[in-house]
This record gives sequence, C-alpha cells and structure tokens, in this order.
Amino acid sequence: FLHKLVLGIETSCDDTAAAVVDETGNVLGEAIHSQTEVHLKTGGIVPSVAQQLHRENIQRIVQEALSSSKVCPSELSAVATTIKPGLALSLGVGLSFSLHLVDQLKKPFIPIHHMEAHALTIRLLNKVDFPFLVLLISGGHCLLALVRGVSDFLLLGKSLDIAPGDMLDKVARRLSLIKHPECSTMSGGKAIEHLAKQGNKLHFDIKPPMQRAKNCDFSFSGLQHVVDRIITQKEKEEGIQKGEILASAAHIAAAVQHATACHIAKRTHRAILFCKQRRLLSPSNAVLVVSGGVASNLYIRKALEIVTNATECTLLCPPPRLCTDNGIMIAWNGIERLRAGVGVLHNTEGIRYEPK
Ligand code: KG4
Ligand code: ZN
Repeated sequence: FLHKLVLGIETSCDDTAAAVVDETGNVLGEAIHSQTEVHLKTGGIVPSVAQQLHRENIQRIVQEALSSSKVCPSELSAVATTIKPGLALSLGVGLSFSLHLVDQLKKPFIPIHHMEAHALTIRLLNKVDFPFLVLLISGGHCLLALVRGVSDFLLLGKSLDIAPGDMLDKVARRLSLIKHPECSTMSGGKAIEHLAKQGNKLHFDIKPPMQRAKNCDFSFSGLQHVVDRIITQKEKEEGIQKGEILASAAHIAAAVQHATACHIAKRTHRAILFCKQRRLLSPSNAVLVVSGGVASNLYIRKALEIVTNATECTLLCPPPRLCTDNGIMIAWNGIERLRAGVGVLHNTEGIRYEPK
C-alpha cells in the first residue's frame, strides 16, 4: 500500500462528486449527487441554485467517498479538485471546501482542468499511450484535441457557439418531450435518441452545418434555429398549441440527430486526416477517444465508427458513468499529475476563491 492515493472532487456544473483512486486505477470509493432533476424542472441550470445544492451536499459526498474507500484521510497523497472551466459559483464551492481540507490535512493540492480530466479518463481503463485524439461532446463541452501528454494538449477544434448536448436539450424542450410518456425522465439528448428510432430522418431535409469550412470547428446554434423554424411551421400546420407534442416530433428528432451525427463525424474525420498527414498521430495505430454525455448516443457513435474504420483508427469510449461528470476522473487526473510531477501544489496560500 505504498501506492499513491488521491481524493478527487468535482463541482464544476450540476454534479457534486468525489472519489478515491489509487495509482493503478483502482476506484476505492466514490459518491455522487446529481442535481439533474431540480434543473429539469426549471428548464436549465440556475447557477445560484446549483451553488446552494453543492453547498448542501459536498461534505456528505466527500465523506461517503472516503468512508466507502476505507482510506483514512491521513493516507491520502493529495487532494485534486476541478478549478476550471465551469460555472464560477459551482466551482467555488468545491474549491473552498478543498482548500480548507488540504489545510487541515496538510496535504498537497492538485488543481484540475475539467477537460483534461475528461480526456485522460480512458487511461484509467485501457492502456492508451500518448499521443491520442480526443473528442469531448456533452451539454457544456465540444472540442477536438490531440493529447500529447498529461498536460500537453493541442486544441484542433471547438464549437463556435453552443455544445451539441445543449442544442439537443433545447430542441427537446421546444418539442415538449418532457411531457412525452416515454421520455419524461430522460435528458434532452436521450429523449431525442429514443424518439428518433420511431422517425424517418429523411422526412425533413436538415443540412449539417459548416460543410465547406476547412477546419475542425463545430457549430450547433444554426441547427437549433433551423429546427426551431420547422417546429413553428409544423405547429401551425398541425394546429396544435405550444407545449403539445407534434405528430411529426419523431421525424424531427431523427433528422436533427442525423445532422448532428454527420457534422460531428465530418469534423472528426478532418482532424484524423490532419494529424495523420502531419505525423502527429501514428499512421498504423491511432486512437480516437470519445467522451461526454453525447458520446452515449449510439447513432452518433455509429457515425464515428464509420470514420474510424475508414481511417484505420481505434475508437474508444469510456463507459457511460465515466463519460459524464464524476469524481473518479478528477482523482485519476490527480494521479496522472502526481506521476508526471506537474501541477502539484504544496502551498495553497496564493489560491483564493472570491465568492460572488
Ligand atoms: O457529460 P454530461 O452529463 O454533462 C455535461 O454537459 O457536462 O452531458 C449531458 C449532456 C446533455 O446535454 C444530454 O442531453 C446529453 O449529454 N446526452 C445525450 C444522450 N445522453 C445524454 N445526447 C445525445 N444522446 C444521448 N443518448
Ligand atoms: Zn464535463
């Protein structure tokens, strides 16, 4: 048990999460409190509400992660906590809690970049060497990056506006899918995926965005507006009131999911070709890691599989519980940083969180 042990804490958005992970990738303990239900009711995250819920839960969640791990706090090698990017009010709760904790325990502190943690999660499960390509697609994230080392990322593309999950959530809300008997408990993206199976993607002609752009950036707000117009027109045609579910909802879901999948696959294809041509990725055994809540969409995954098969890449996805926000990825990122000897702080005096 000379293994390094890290406690990871995540509060960047709407999940209060903590975990204890060891050097070999064993998850010794974990706990998570999701705020999704509360935010579904308000139709989106209200930052001050998220902050309040993090405050109410952080002590208990960290305690649960520690006690289920049977690790005594004095045995920890360090505490790792997400410090950016995310909602400032939410991040602040995790950061001030952690600063108090490391002060009490006299342990090193490892500030974590949330995207780095998402990108490195795959290495907890699989032997994936640097460099590899990562695609992060969720409600808050959309980026393509070449991961060259623990804290060495080359950003190849990002969304110029909103993230794909955000767009799917907005479309689902506009379609009132929360009132749909089969979808009422699902996230917007999951509801779209579910409904799309009952629809015909060719019923509406929704074009993927940025088809001519010679880069690896993304855009989803145009798609959202196109769908919005279609819905408004269908509401008139079908003579239904706002809030009722359209007869053509499944066709709309199928078409928007198809355009989303095409767009994501096309940008990723460009990134793979770019990296291979420049020898930034191995020509023979390149790896594409796809993570984030939207990565659990099987239709989008199929589209990515077509791209990776055609370019002789290996496609890897962490399991859903590690794709979405969690404490394990933060703790693991702490382990990676400890091993690489980067960004481990023994003095946190300079770090202060200014509450708003
Ligand atoms: O990673 P995540 O839990 O949280 C962040 O956004 O950071 O991702 C949540 C997002 C939501 O926008 C949700 O609608 C979307 O992922 N999502 C999906 C699916 N499941 C969740 N999008 C498409 N298809 C799904 N099956
Ligand atoms: Zn995330």
